[in-house]
This record gives sequence, structure tokens and C-alpha cells, in this order.
Amino acid sequence: MKTLITETKSVFSKKYGTEPVWLVAAPGRVNLIGEHTDYNDGFVFPMAIERYTVIAAGYSDAAGADIYSINKEESATIKLDGSATPPQTVVWSSYIQGTIQNVVETGLCPKNFRAVINSNVPLGGGLSSSASLEVATATLLEAITGQKIDPVQKALLCQKAEHLYAGMPCGIMDQFIAALGREGYAMLLDCRSRVPKMIPLDDPNIVVLIINSNVKHQLTGSEYPDRRRQCEKAARLLRVPKLRDATLQQLGAAQSVFEKEPDGNICFRRARHIVTENKRTVATAEAMIRKDWNTCGRLMYESHTSMRDDFEITCTEIDILVEIAKSTDGVIGSRMTGGGFGGCTVSLVEASKAGKVSETIAEQYSTKTGIEPAVFTTRPAQGAMILENN
Ligand code: GLA
Repeated sequence: MKTLITETKSVFSKKYGTEPVWLVAAPGRVNLIGEHTDYNDGFVFPMAIERYTVIAAGYSDAAGADIYSINKEESATIKLDGSATPPQTVVWSSYIQGTIQNVVETGLCPKNFRAVINSNVPLGGGLSSSASLEVATATLLEAITGQKIDPVQKALLCQKAEHLYAGMPCGIMDQFIAALGREGYAMLLDCRSRVPKMIPLDDPNIVVLIINSNVKHQLTGSEYPDRRRQCEKAARLLRVPKLRDATLQQLGAAQSVFEKEPDGNICFRRARHIVTENKRTVATAEAMIRKDWNTCGRLMYESHTSMRDDFEITCTEIDILVEIAKSTDGVIGSRMTGGGFGGCTVSLVEASKAGKVSETIAEQYSTKTGIEPAVFTTRPAQGAMILENN
């Protein structure tokens, strides 16, 4: 993060001729297991990663906020007076505007400011670059106003920004871990009670390896909301409030009810993924407490198979990455992470073999697909923070 901070501060002072007053950061995340379970009131098991969105900011005389993105090489003017409305077309600054609007609506009144934003969370790579941007923005407003927002509330405000200003009906996982992640810990989150349980992930013999497939398939664009609807329908057919409340026995007993529906088979398989994934997620956290890495690894592979066959959110390139991982010495478990249709895999790897594992997987993947992946290891990182408040 050091280089990222230095670059951000230097662009700020070059652009505005003064040092920033505030400096904040919020991380991206990787989800170890528990995919698409969050909006079903289930369990997720993410951790913050050592990739951040950083914002340097200072006072301004002009009305509103003038924000420059180093990644996009573009500026945007943001309203701070609570008069913003959701955009017709979503652009990078929509996430910022949405977050600021929601924070202002809670009663915080930020002064006019100008800011430079910089991120090394891969954009659109399934590591929650957008949640890190939203949570960094909310954290900046806390620094500017000197008022703390309850972190769970903060995650919810950011999620609402994503719903209303980015048109993405996401669950709570990404914003929650970006706001509340803790260095050295993965987080088992019960998305119904919103009570996190921090699980140490600090065994020096284990590293978390992230491999970006560098593909993102835009199919119809409605894959995520479609999955949400199918899960809601399955819950209705099962007569439970959310799929979190269903068991595998209940699902089996309701097979004939599903068969009467035109999309019954699909909804049945979606529900089977969620019901089994919730169990796997809790079991993985329990196994991690015991440092039972083989069980963690097996559950990760099972999760991938379930996402591939029942939830149908993987893609050829990602399946290839997991297959290669499975046959590579030193890999304990591997699966796709995030919303799906590309992005990254997450693997648990024996630390002493991590270098060789990275090389082998990258080489075989590019031979098989013609695409160069991006590979990096990470330890569980700290959630959002105010780094400077001068
Ligand atoms: C996206 C969403 C999350 C979650 C994951 C899938 O990252 O933002 O809320 O649903 O997909 O687990």
C-alpha cells in the first residue's frame, strides 16, 4: 500500500499545489467460501486483501467535491448537498456519488473538498473494487466531518449506493468486509444477524493465492439478478422466508412441487447450491479453527463443483484454473471467488510451495487458454481506515 499512498499524495500535491489534509483507505476482498449465500440470509467467509483504494483529500472553495481518479485519468464533480439522484448511465463516479448521497441523508454535512483516488484492486476482477471505493468514500466523509458512522451502518449505506447508483442488487458481503475486515483474520459472517465471527488465518505455513483469469464474460448482464430471483422463487416454493432456512431434506421432499414449474429444475439446483454452500461455509470456518486444512481444501473444491453444476456461475477459463490447481502439488483447495462468470480463483496453498505453484498454474493456464493470468498471494488485511487527518 506504501507505493499506492506515495503516488496518490504526490498526484494530489501536483494537481492542487498543497498537501492533502485527509488520507483514507479501504481494501478489496476475496471470499474464501460462501458464494451467493449473502442475499439468501446465509453465511459467507471473506477476508480483506492487501489491495486497497486510497483517497487523498483536502479543502476546496468550489461547491461540491472535485474528484480525480488516477486509474481512469478523469475528474468528476460530486454533489454534497443531498440533491443527487441515481444516474441514467453508471460510471466510476456513480459509486462515489451514491455513497455520499446516502451518507449525507443520514445527517452528516461534509465541507466542500477535492480529492484524488487511486486503487490497486483489479477493476472488475471479482475482488470488490467497487465496494472498496464505496467504503473508502464513506470513510473519507467520516474523516472530513469528524463523525464516526457505525461500521455495520456504513456497510449498509454503501450497499444501498451499489443498489441505487450502480443498479447492482448485491448482498452485504463485500461492503461489510471492506468496512470491518481485520488483519490476520478471515470473517465468518452470518448475513441474517450481521454478526461477524473473526477466525484467525495466520498460520505461517499457509498462504492465500489469488489468480485473476483476466476474463469477464458479459452474457446478458442480468445473470446476478436472475440468480437472486431464482433463489427467491425456490424459497417461496419451499415455503421458507429465505433459503437460509431450508434443509436438504426439505428440498428433496419438495421435488414434485418444483417439477410443476417451467423453471423448476433450475430453481431446484440453485436452492441445492445455497443449502449445501451454507453448510460448507460454516464447516470451513470450523475446520480453519482446528487448522484442519485438508477439510478446508476439500470443501473449497466441493463449493466450486456446486457453483459450476448447480448455480452455473463459473466459465471454461475458471474451471480450467481450478482443474490445474487440483493437480498441482502444494495446493490444498481452490475455487472461483465472487459473483462469477470470470474474475478470480482463490486457493489455499502450502507457503513453501507457493512460488512453484504460481508458476505452474500460470504456465499451464496460458498454454491452455492463450490468456496470461495475474497471480498474487495475500494475507488477511485490515479493513477501512483513516490514515491521516491533519
Ligand atoms: C458479488 C456481490 C456479493 C455476493 C457475491 C457472490 O460480489 O456483491 O454481495 O453476492 O457476488 O457471493
